[in-house]
Amino acid sequence: MIRFEKVSFSYMEEGSTLQDLSFTIEKGSITALVGANGAGKTTLAKLIRGLIHPTAGRILFEEEDISKCKASTLAARMGYLFQNPDRQICKNTVGEELDFTLERTVQDPIERQRLKDDVLNALQLDPADEPFLLSRGERQKVALASALVHRPQLLILDEPTTGLDYKECTQIMEYVQALNRQGVTVVMVCHDMEIVLDYADHVIVMHSGKITADGKTRQILQDPTALTSSALLPPQIIGLAARLMADGYSGFEGICTVDAMATQIEAARKAVTA
Ligand SMILES: Nc1ncnc2c1ncn2[C@@H]1O[C@H](COP(=O)(O)OP(=O)(O)O)[C@@H](O)[C@H]1O
Ligand SMILES: [Mg+2]
Repeated sequence: MIRFEKVSFSYMEEGSTLQDLSFTIEKGSITALVGANGAGKTTLAKLIRGLIHPTAGRILFEEEDISKCKASTLAARMGYLFQNPDRQICKNTVGEELDFTLERTVQDPIERQRLKDDVLNALQLDPADEPFLLSRGERQKVALASALVHRPQLLILDEPTTGLDYKECTQIMEYVQALNRQGVTVVMVCHDMEIVLDYADHVIVMHSGKITADGKTRQILQDPTALTSSALLPPQIIGLAARLMADGYSGFEGICTVDAMATQIEAARKAVTA
């Protein structure tokens, strides 16, 4: 769906923020962009959305050069959640915020109403609420709702769960996953490796403007060098499996879930007592 061909980007005349990036994002996937602060994740997300353009190389969206696509086409086919929801929300009520997106992307008023009701219902939002009187988590939901209310083909989320409690985080991610199952491709910047393990099928690791690893989620999260080179820690269950293997226990290779871990510990216990 998205292909980067030797893309570089600089904010200033000198120095390069992103250097020579080549990768693809498959249609129908959930791809997590991970890496330390300043690695270039937000810059990469903005390039995918066409908000900024490469200083070298090109980016293809469904085989079309993004820099040649009309802004209105990209707005209709993509959704973008900014890292800070307060930079995105610009209207006085939740309903008006959603209308703002819909008026620019969907022609038919009946369809607009249907899409709006759908998202309000799914994320349990009240159209009359004033966004700036809501909690951080609720504002994040409003910003997410306005990023996806028009059902874009590609949804780009810059840290969708930062600052949310567990329940809010799960609600947002379950909804994103449901949309993905209906065919929406998702790219999300994420710091939480537990969420990456639970929801992403693909991971791209960034470090100082370069891609240092790119592959299936479990393969990347179980590769210690892929993570430590970018100052990342694996999800706890994968860290525990690695620790047990380092201590000489066998059978813990590839364990990524609590259930698999419990089964293997039980098997190890039986082997000792047998
Ligand atoms: N608007 C900007 N102007 C100049 N430099 C910027 C701008 N935005 C980000 N940068 C710099 O680009 C680098 C990558 O930033 P960013 O893409 O925000 O990283 P991340 O999202 O991984 O934290 C950082 O060194 C940052 O200081
Ligand atoms: Mg960022």
